[in-house]
Amino acid sequence: MGGRMGLRIGVLGAGSFASSFIPLFKAHPLVEEVCIAEVMPQRRAEQAQRFGVQRTYASLDDLCESDVDAVAIFTQRWLHGPQAVQALRARKHVYCAVPAAITLDEVAALVAAVEQTGCIYMSGETSYYYPVTLYCRERWRRGDFGRFVYAEAEYLHDMSHGFYDAYQHSGGEDWKRTASFPPMLYATHSTSMVLSVTGARLTHVSCMGYVDREDDGVFQARASLWGNDLSNETALFRTSDGGMCRVNEFRRVGLSGGASVRMSLYGTRGSFEEQTNARVWNTLSVKEQQDVRELLECRGVPVPEAERSRLPVPLQEDFFKGISAVHDAARLPVTFAGLPNGHYGSHQFLVCDFVEAVISGQQPTNNVWDAARYCVPGIVAHDSATRGGQLLEVPDFGNG
Ligand SMILES: NC(=O)c1ccc[n+]([C@@H]2O[C@H](COP(=O)([O-])OP(=O)(O)OC[C@H]3O[C@@H](n4cnc5c(N)ncnc54)[C@H](O)[C@@H]3O)[C@@H](O)[C@H]2O)c1
Repeated sequence: MGGRMGLRIGVLGAGSFASSFIPLFKAHPLVEEVCIAEVMPQRRAEQAQRFGVQRTYASLDDLCESDVDAVAIFTQRWLHGPQAVQALRARKHVYCAVPAAITLDEVAALVAAVEQTGCIYMSGETSYYYPVTLYCRERWRRGDFGRFVYAEAEYLHDMSHGFYDAYQHSGGEDWKRTASFPPMLYATHSTSMVLSVTGARLTHVSCMGYVDREDDGVFQARASLWGNDLSNETALFRTSDGGMCRVNEFRRVGLSGGASVRMSLYGTRGSFEEQTNARVWNTLSVKEQQDVRELLECRGVPVPEAERSRLPVPLQEDFFKGISAVHDAARLPVTFAGLPNGHYGSHQFLVCDFVEAVISGQQPTNNVWDAARYCVPGIVAHDSATRGGQLLEVPDFGNG
C-alpha cells in the first residue's frame, strides 16, 4: 500500500450482484478507492456513474496492471477460478463470489497461487453468515450437538425465480448455453452451511441427477457448454467425522421463495431442523425443544424502493434482508449503517472480513482452503451423477 491510508479495490464484473457490494466497499473506512473493470462498455459507464466511481477498466488484464491492492470478482459463476489465479499472480489480494472454481484443476491452481504468492484470498460465501449457520456454529462450539451424525443442506431455486433474467442479463443471444450450469457446480451455499459449523470435510460421494423435461431449451446436453441435461441433483456424502450429509441442488422445483438455502443438522445430543416456516432446536428432552424462528428472523429492508427499481434485473427478496439478533452488528463499521445488506445479513460481514484480512495479513473466514472444502465436493458429485451415481473420493486440498 506504500504508506497510503486505505485500500484500492478493483471490482471485476459490474453486474447485478456487484451492485450490492460496490457501495459497501466504498463505505468501508479502510478503503480509499473503488474502481470498476467491466467488459461491457455501456454497463461500465452506467455503473461508474451510478456509484460515483472515477477509474474504470475494460479488462482484467488492465486491472491487474493498475495500482489496485485487491480485486473483487463478481463475474459469471464459471469464470472465477482462472480470473482469481491471474489476479493473485499479479500480486493482488482477491475476494471472489462463489463458486471459487468449477474443475479440480482450477482449484489446484487457485490453492497453489495463494500458497506461492502469500496474497489473501477470500470466498464470498454468503451462507457462512446466514443466521441459521451462525446459530448452529455457536451451539456446535458449546458442544450442544454432541458428535456429528447427519446433515442435510439444500439450495432450491427454480429457474423461473430470477434465473432466466440473471442469465440473459449478460449472456446475450447465447444465454441458454450457460443457463444449463450443472447444479452441483454451485453446491457451496449448501456444503458451507454444514462444513463451516462442524469444520469437517466431505470425503466420498454418490450423486444422482434428474434429466430435465421442460421445453425451454435450457438443460439440453447438445446446447449446453457443459453438455449438461441435469436440472436437479441429489448427493450423499461421507464426512471426515464419520457421519453422512445429503445435499440437494434443484433448479426445477415447485417451491416459493423463503428459506431456499437451508440446513438441518443432527448430533448425538442435539439437533437443528429447518424447513419452510420451521426452525427448531431439539434434544432428547421434549421440554428443551425451542422454536427459534423469531431469533433467526432478519429484519429491516435497508434498500430503499427507489434503489430497488434501478437494479438491472429483478432480484429475489433475499437480496434485501436486513440483519438478525444473532449477527454481531457491533463489529461492523458505523459507516455501514443504513446501507444495503443482503442474503440474510451476510454482505456487510463478508466485506468487513475481507478488508480486515488484507490490512492485517491474517487469513480470513472462507479462506482458499475453506473455499476448496466447499466447492470440491460438488465438482466430484456432478462427475458421479454423470456416471450413474458411482461412489467417488473427494480430494483433500488441505488446511493451509
Ligand atoms: N448468494 C450469493 O453468493 C450470490 C448471489 C447472486 C450472485 N452470486 C454470484 O455473483 C456472480 C455475478 O452474478 P450476477 O448475477 O451479478 O452476474 P451478471 O451477469 O449480472 O454480472 C457479471 C458481470 O461480469 C462481467 N464480466 C464477465 N467477464 C468479465 C471480464 N473478463 N472482465 C470484466 N467484466 C467481466 C459481465 O459483463 C457482467 O456485467 C456470479 O458468480 C454469481 O454466482 C452469488
